[in-house]
Amino acid sequence: MAKITAAITAVGKYLPEYILTNKELETMVDTNDEWITTRTGIKERRILKEENAGTSFMAIRAAEDLIQKNNIDPKEIDLVIVATATPDMPVASTAVYTATEIGAVNAFAYDLQAACSSFLYGMSTASSYIESGRYKKVLLIGSDKMSSIIDYTDRATCIIFGDGAGAVLFEPNEEGYGLQDELLRSDGIGRDFLKIEAGGSILPASEETISNRQHYVHQEGRTVFKFAVSNMADVSEGILNRNNLTKDTVNWLVPHQANKRIIEATANRIGLDSDKVMMNIHKYGNTTSATLPLLLNDYEKELKKGDNLIFAAFGGGFTWGAIYLKWAYNK
Ligand code: UT7
Repeated sequence: MAKITAAITAVGKYLPEYILTNKELETMVDTNDEWITTRTGIKERRILKEENAGTSFMAIRAAEDLIQKNNIDPKEIDLVIVATATPDMPVASTAVYTATEIGAVNAFAYDLQAACSSFLYGMSTASSYIESGRYKKVLLIGSDKMSSIIDYTDRATCIIFGDGAGAVLFEPNEEGYGLQDELLRSDGIGRDFLKIEAGGSILPASEETISNRQHYVHQEGRTVFKFAVSNMADVSEGILNRNNLTKDTVNWLVPHQANKRIIEATANRIGLDSDKVMMNIHKYGNTTSATLPLLLNDYEKELKKGDNLIFAAFGGGFTWGAIYLKWAYNK
């Protein structure tokens, strides 16, 4: 019997309508379009403005987009994983609600949290279920409403993040397409440099934590930047070497969209030209768990069956890694 690999067979996305431009941010904090563009590559990001709408609102729409475009019967989905750093609520799984709302009534569901690496780690989890032969259709959604945890008076963070969601379906493949290899890492040293201090079990919410603005993302950007540049490049180079891939046999780098300079540093290390590097940070900013699936949506028409894709991400924790995947279809 042929070995079963886990292939991505469909993608979908949802982006909120509201566009927060660098120009508008100039009216909110002491910043300017030139600084944001040169330091990050971001020009605009999407913000979910609908009332009482959280991460599931976008996850459901991304999943429905995938289901409708590909004529999937949601009753056949075995498992729904929502990769997110901003669940609807601290308790009551966002994925469970999402699965019910999209009609995946025969699925079980749970959330997966690894900051900006949530989706990358989710690819590993989803693939393992498929490779084991246990499940046939695993829906992995990356969705984050970053605007719910961002301090729009803090110019060091509010210019970076945006809201959005992307979904992919993993299915078994017997021709060798799909996930080939992974190099996943984490290091607790990162805990102090990128965090939300309050609202968890160490420092539950109180009037004091609210007045101290401790429920927002706090990032020591320069430190995170240094770790991101070296670690994302290291794992990308490592996975190429381990699989005897070169800059000529890699078709696409699919990098987490945190900062254009981090992406370029990773591409340079593995010698890839910019036309092989997926990029949409200028349009959406850093959407945390949604960056990788949003890239696949934006570039789906350009992808060819058999293309070698290298996914790479770095995020809070620290968490990071790279995945080598062979694309499984032509659009
Ligand atoms: O996805 C999860 C992982 N996160 C990341 O990978 C993010 C990694 N970090 C970064 O992308 C970058 O560090 C930032 C984009 C966050 C910041 O860029 P930077 O080049 O590291 O700037 P910096 O923090 O070193 O700040 C340089 C200067 C400072 O002024 P002084 O001290 O040199 O006078 C900041 O106060 O720029 C100032 N600054 C700003 N100026 C205008 C900081 N934010 C802004 C701003 N507009 N929005």
